Amino acid sequence: MNNIAAVILSAGKGKRMKSGLAKVLHPVVGRPMAAWSVDAARASGAADILLVTGHQSEAVSEYFKSSGDLRTIVQEELLGTGHAVACALKALDGFNGTILILCGDTPLLRSETLVRLTEFHRSGNAVITMLTAEVGNSESYGRVVRDHNGELLRIVEQKDATPDEQAIREINSGIYCMASDFLFANIGKLGNSNAQREYYLTDLLEIAVSNGMKCLAMQTDDPDEILGINDRVQLAEACQIMRRRINRDLMLSGVTMVAPEQTYINYGVAIGPDTVIHHNCQITGSTVIGGGCIIETGVSISDCRIGNDCHIKAGSVLEGAELHEEVSVGPMAHLRPGTVLHKHVKIGNFVETKKAVLGQGSKASHLTYLGDTEIGRDVNIGCGTITCNYDGVKKHRTIIGDGVFIGSDVQLVAPVTVGSNSLVAAGTTVTVDVPPDSLAIARVPQVNKEGWRLRKK
Ligand code: UD1
Ligand code: CA
Repeated sequence: MNNIAAVILSAGKGKRMKSGLAKVLHPVVGRPMAAWSVDAARASGAADILLVTGHQSEAVSEYFKSSGDLRTIVQEELLGTGHAVACALKALDGFNGTILILCGDTPLLRSETLVRLTEFHRSGNAVITMLTAEVGNSESYGRVVRDHNGELLRIVEQKDATPDEQAIREINSGIYCMASDFLFANIGKLGNSNAQREYYLTDLLEIAVSNGMKCLAMQTDDPDEILGINDRVQLAEACQIMRRRINRDLMLSGVTMVAPEQTYINYGVAIGPDTVIHHNCQITGSTVIGGGCIIETGVSISDCRIGNDCHIKAGSVLEGAELHEEVSVGPMAHLRPGTVLHKHVKIGNFVETKKAVLGQGSKASHLTYLGDTEIGRDVNIGCGTITCNYDGVKKHRTIIGDGVFIGSDVQLVAPVTVGSNSLVAAGTTVTVDVPPDSLAIARVPQVNKEGWRLRKK
């Protein structure tokens, strides 16, 4: 029978995080750490996934509410990992098969390892199979205690361990397969006479062993996988490891990273081959980047769609923008949500755009603000141009037709339209619509007062 249910323990407050946010909602490269455990459970073939929530259960449930294959169980009182599993079992009444138990604070676990653990458990006919690891620093984990023949005896928590036990390097990952009938029959036997006055799930091992039931341990050869996050130092470690995995996958798929250790790419980002990413770039959200792009130093990109062969120059910030092919942006440009740049558009240094659509081949090369505007093809926006889109109450639109030339230092007081192929002279403040094929010029005539400097002295 291939019957697997997964229970993910995520109710704890995470005291050691010293945070107002529930531990399992702290992001690891762009998503709550518990989401990684949910993915692993899913990929291991669990048909029923139960997330035990407690601390900030509403916020945790809210995040997962769109996952139709998941049930959230509330552990009203946080009395320990054993109690958390007991709460989940109430919702699994009548279930017969393997129960996978995971923690919401071990996001690095790979689904392949979970599949291996389940197979090992099944073929070994055990009531409990735990995933263990040998680690250099076992301090924040329960130790696996074995007898002189190496047979499993029990798990002892750091706070309950003798100095000899504390020296043990084999640790409990908090990830197990258990036989459902064993769990149902024994979960009620757990006590809480320990240093933390908690019902420890780990005590089930001793119960099973002392009743002559078969228990197994499968050691992972990659201790990184079972890194449990209890504080922010471990959070940073987990993020770094996860980032390395993401970067490695991208590099193997053809992306060049000049400095992978200084490249911060979150979960869910896609990048095409032959794109080159220079150091200190951050790429997050639902961003998709095509092939053959150059992303220079210090660029930050979130929730953007970028076509092939684009060039994003140093220090630029792109948020919620859509770039077609062969677009050039920056250095030091800021593209804000609603920006759409068609093929061959060039946005130069110190240009800010927001809800701005620029047609093919148009250019805004220097020091410009373009907001709430629609700009046609082959338009030149001169240095220092400003769309004055806000009157203090409402935002207004600026429409610029194909082939328009806007000279330097022009203000376009919206709502306003400049017809195609017109020219707006440098220094003009445009307050009325400009018809097509026209010259618009609005400058105060210059007066030269000769001898002015001499008279002032
Ligand atoms: C636990 C294990 C320890 C193991 C370690 C691996 C126990 C007693 N100890 O210790 O042997 O080495 O994980 O990382 O099980 N939780 C609840 N409800 C509760 C208490 C905890 O849902 O009442 C959840 C937490 O949110 C967390 C997980 O269970 O996701 C583990 O709890 P935590 O307090 O972090 O246990 P550890 O001390 O790390
Ligand atoms: Ca933990």
